[in-house]
Amino acid sequence: MLDKAKWICHPEDGRESRLVPVFRRCFSVRSSLKRAVLRLTAHGIYSAEMNGKAVSEDRFAPGLTSYYYRIQVQEYDVTAFLHAGENEWRTTVADGWWRWNNNFGTRLAMIGELQLDYTDGSQECFVTDETWEVATGPCISADLKKGEVYDARIEPKHWQKAMEETFHIDAPLILQEGVPVREHENLSGKAMRDSAGNLVFDFGQNMAGYVRMALRHTQPGQRIHLKHGEALDLEGKFSTANVDMGENPFQEITYICKGAEMEVYQPRFAVFGFRYVLVEGIEDIDMTAIAVYSDMEETGSFECSHPLINQLGKNALWSQKGNFLDVATDCPTRERNAWTGDGQIYCRTAAYFMDVRRFFKKWLKDQTIEQYENGMVGITFPSTSSVHDPAELPYVKAKNPMVELAGPTGNGFAGEESAGWGDAAVWIPWQMYQMYGDREFLENQYDTARRWVDYALSSMKEKNPYYADKPWYANGDGDYIYDSKFHYGEWCEPFPMDPEVVQLFKDGGTGADYVMLKRKYGQPEVATAYTKRSCDVLSAMAKVLGKEEDAQKYSAVAQKIKAAYDQYLIDDAGVIKPGHQAPYVRALALDMVSEKKKPLVIDQLKKELAAANDHLNTGFLSTVYLLPTLCDYGMKEEAFKILEQTDTPGWLHPVTLGATTIPETWDGFDRFKDSLNHYSFGAVCQFLFEYVGGIRPLKPGFSEFALHPVMGGSLQWAKAAYKTKYGCIASEWKMQDGTFTYHCVIPQETTAHLLLPNGETRILIGGDYTFEGEIQ
Ligand code: BGC
Repeated sequence: MLDKAKWICHPEDGRESRLVPVFRRCFSVRSSLKRAVLRLTAHGIYSAEMNGKAVSEDRFAPGLTSYYYRIQVQEYDVTAFLHAGENEWRTTVADGWWRWNNNFGTRLAMIGELQLDYTDGSQECFVTDETWEVATGPCISADLKKGEVYDARIEPKHWQKAMEETFHIDAPLILQEGVPVREHENLSGKAMRDSAGNLVFDFGQNMAGYVRMALRHTQPGQRIHLKHGEALDLEGKFSTANVDMGENPFQEITYICKGAEMEVYQPRFAVFGFRYVLVEGIEDIDMTAIAVYSDMEETGSFECSHPLINQLGKNALWSQKGNFLDVATDCPTRERNAWTGDGQIYCRTAAYFMDVRRFFKKWLKDQTIEQYENGMVGITFPSTSSVHDPAELPYVKAKNPMVELAGPTGNGFAGEESAGWGDAAVWIPWQMYQMYGDREFLENQYDTARRWVDYALSSMKEKNPYYADKPWYANGDGDYIYDSKFHYGEWCEPFPMDPEVVQLFKDGGTGADYVMLKRKYGQPEVATAYTKRSCDVLSAMAKVLGKEEDAQKYSAVAQKIKAAYDQYLIDDAGVIKPGHQAPYVRALALDMVSEKKKPLVIDQLKKELAAANDHLNTGFLSTVYLLPTLCDYGMKEEAFKILEQTDTPGWLHPVTLGATTIPETWDGFDRFKDSLNHYSFGAVCQFLFEYVGGIRPLKPGFSEFALHPVMGGSLQWAKAAYKTKYGCIASEWKMQDGTFTYHCVIPQETTAHLLLPNGETRILIGGDYTFEGEIQ
């Protein structure tokens, strides 16, 4: 593919000039054209046109991969765009992920070929080479996050010869593997004034995308300026202060008018997280917000009698849409990093809402590619926390000494080794296998998973002097308590930050100092538990793949880790430090507790729940386990109380404040702080599907599944549906005066194991069933 084509660039494009080049080639087509196929890709993101018409609806092609190791090529049938005679192919290339923070390189380029097949069997091929011309056009600058500057008065001129790009990397070109990114919902906005009198449009929904604006009665050279933000601040003023980290420009569009009765514009090379848009420079304007995300089918739905819970479900789905843009990011605003931790926490929920199979398959391959030589898996992949281009490293380091080179031979970013984040290497493929029954996830990812686990196990063996007097060392069990290295830990629990950390930053400490401080203490509880979970899962993966030896080896290690955790990290009264709910939930959920200590641990968890007045106080890692664990250990009532709390901390609290997405922190909306579109805590929707709705896979891909509806709290009815490859599963219940009616639909060729709240069990095959009974 593209064997004869050359990478071409604009001779003046580079680190400082940052052009948005437009490439063109005129070519003639004979009559009797049968088929025309265009294949192309870019260093950057591109938009391609034949005779002035965009050849596809894809956005941000070629998508994000680990570009030094593989670049996706898109293939389009463009027959309908061509005519006999002279034709023109143009392609505009913008920064995209390639030049985002100069991660992969500082010059943009493209490569492509147009293959023409005629009815007489002859063929012609036009490829990119030095016969092409290049210029700059109306798009003056384009950065995914900063935004676009577009001068509609400019027509590309000063065409000059394109130059061959001889970049130091010659990565394999592969046909598109991921899901194309497309435009989806169009939402109209309401014009209003913020508290400072600014013209602001409110689209009623926080999302990722951009706006199409229609400008009336414009003057040539009139400057229109848009800023995109997630919320108004506490005074009701438009602001991006919760996410912009002082960056300027941040999520902005500057449009310079041609001057007309009506001008319409929408960006092509930038994407923003927003609900509100501030407008400067015009009053006579209409706007439509366009949500942009990977084109995935919606596969699940959940609804119940509690309107706030329904809104919570919608918010999680919108946070998913807002962050699944070719890779899964933490948020579409501040960082936009494809964080491993967030991905592993949410991936199963994501699969209930949408068909994410192809999306994750492609993304995980980049994890494999970027895994460090020592087995460490980065915190983001393709890495945006470290840098790929060696030439850029000195510049980046001057600003942030913690950044190192990404990719297998690099060293990553200080603090890449975090448990709960790198464990995504094991967890995501396993969850995808459970949801889709697709063995390829295991075949593709097994080695990456094993190397990560081996890395964690060898890190476990490192001695941490801070814990030198702990009994696990004295007893020779130091290899099974993971007390070394940097770990984020539970992360974003609703407590003030550790005083030592607060002091460190007060004293002007840097990120590197923070990493060192955290390394000093490690996170024995979190890291030990996560490594045990990964050993268990790796062993299960090995079993499926027929790797018996590995299966036994890792399950034996898991048992040793469990024994050490139980002995050293849970005291005789069942207390697990540092306390609060997270460690208890984790210990129970990840099977870290001996039968002897289980009742004590459960009691401690009950105490924690009571002390928090039946509110949650978990962070990123254990929130997803909280409600399922409470139900599994006989605390169903508490689970529903926590779910239904409307004050903070709790899922419904932001909903009562009008949230339309899931915030990063429990009180983010109260304080106008942190990202307001962070899907992580939305993983509670897994509980809605699997417990309230009761649908859970028992065999990978749902050929056999459980229906264990949990009826509780103030809920009077609930309905969950999930589309499997066999057909749609439906599970619905109603409750009244202690009796319930339950209805389910089982797809043909599947078997459901039903357990109703009255204790009744049934094995059901394809069909439609209704049951009634008393709740016990
Ligand atoms: C990100 C997270 C991420 C975390 C790592 C944050 O800044 O937004 O979602 O997982 O850092 O701890």
